[in-house]
Amino acid sequence: MIARVRPARRLRGEVHLPGDKSISHRALMLNAVADGEACVDGLSGGADVASTAGCLRTLGVEIEDGRVAGRGMAGLREPAGPLDCGNSGTTMRLLAGLLAGLPFPVTLVGDGSLSRRPMDRVAAPLRLMGANAETGPLRVGGTAPLHGITYESPVASAQVKSAVLLAGLSAEGDTSVVEPVSTRDHTERMLEAMGATVAREGRRVTVTGPVSALRALDVAVPRDLSAAAFWLVAAGLHADSRVSLPGVGVNPTRTALLDLLEAAGVRVERLRPRLAGAEPVADLEVGTSTGGHAFQVAGTAAAELIDELPVLAVAAAMLPGTSRITGARELRLKESDRVAAMAAGLTAMGADVTELDDGWEIRGPRHLEGARVASAGDHRVAMALAVAGLLADGQTEIEDADCVDISYPGFWDQLEALCT
Ligand code: S3P
Repeated sequence: MIARVRPARRLRGEVHLPGDKSISHRALMLNAVADGEACVDGLSGGADVASTAGCLRTLGVEIEDGRVAGRGMAGLREPAGPLDCGNSGTTMRLLAGLLAGLPFPVTLVGDGSLSRRPMDRVAAPLRLMGANAETGPLRVGGTAPLHGITYESPVASAQVKSAVLLAGLSAEGDTSVVEPVSTRDHTERMLEAMGATVAREGRRVTVTGPVSALRALDVAVPRDLSAAAFWLVAAGLHADSRVSLPGVGVNPTRTALLDLLEAAGVRVERLRPRLAGAEPVADLEVGTSTGGHAFQVAGTAAAELIDELPVLAVAAAMLPGTSRITGARELRLKESDRVAAMAAGLTAMGADVTELDDGWEIRGPRHLEGARVASAGDHRVAMALAVAGLLADGQTEIEDADCVDISYPGFWDQLEALCT
């Protein structure tokens, strides 16, 4: 499908966001191996989370309307064939960890994009724990028991950290991960809430295994801040806007985006801060900002903004001054090469972008013109270019636009509803 986006005269209204994707995956996986039944409310309706649910069903877990019937740590069933993780890196990497201690082997496969993504980053630490873990395709399990390790992760990745910690549930002794920079901590929070022993000290997280039982946990999934990012940038940079986003997750390991927008002169109000289980939530409000300016992202900061960088590149194109976004080589290893895809899309629309090995240098403000642009089949690229289209003149055509369903089904309808 090709999406056609026209410049918005005004952006107004309340945004309905999907449930947080990272928390949704974890709520399903951890409750699948817990004792008892749990209700997960507000689960992401995206295809990635459906891939996790599908894999868990293949392992014998009953999941129906957000209700998960836990089978206990040792209760998963040997699947007849490979588990299909679709487009979802989180499904593949976290399941690799969770399943690494099983007495039978499991093969994890995915679509063309996922099959090209690096999996040795999880297989290598799992092997250090005594697991059988091969790549191409990823295959784990069959050689229990695992033993704890201290893993100094060379990459700042919540998926790698989570995979190792989940394997640690079935390992003998302490399993520690030391990260180069603290990444999202949803796994740690949920494991603690389910009764696992988790210790945290700076950038080191430790789980003590083996964990014989996790308590089933009802989860009220916050709305996804990484999905909110598209509307925060669109409304912040639009000349006539006021948008509210209720119930958004504002876990401090995810809010670097809000700090960066603030530093660039885009004010996002956080109202009614509260807790949804183990996770902080607030209602966000954003309107037209004046006096915004270029911003810098360097070093480890990129890891804290990883999913928001495509739409921040759009913001950089619209803000006065030279923005440099570096330290983001990981972006080339996402669902697409997001550094290249955003440079191509924004350049086609008239932005002044230099593609760097690990990010971009973007000189703004530029008057963007609608163009035909490629999403590269990548949901975040498609949505970021849609935001560029809202702020541009003329019509923007985004190819392969249905890929937004990976994380945000309803995105195109939401866009139309906001353009009053
Ligand atoms: C995620 C971690 C990040 C992020 C992805 C979701 C998670 O990936 O980009 O969308 O849920 O743990 P990396 O860990 O590969 O950076």
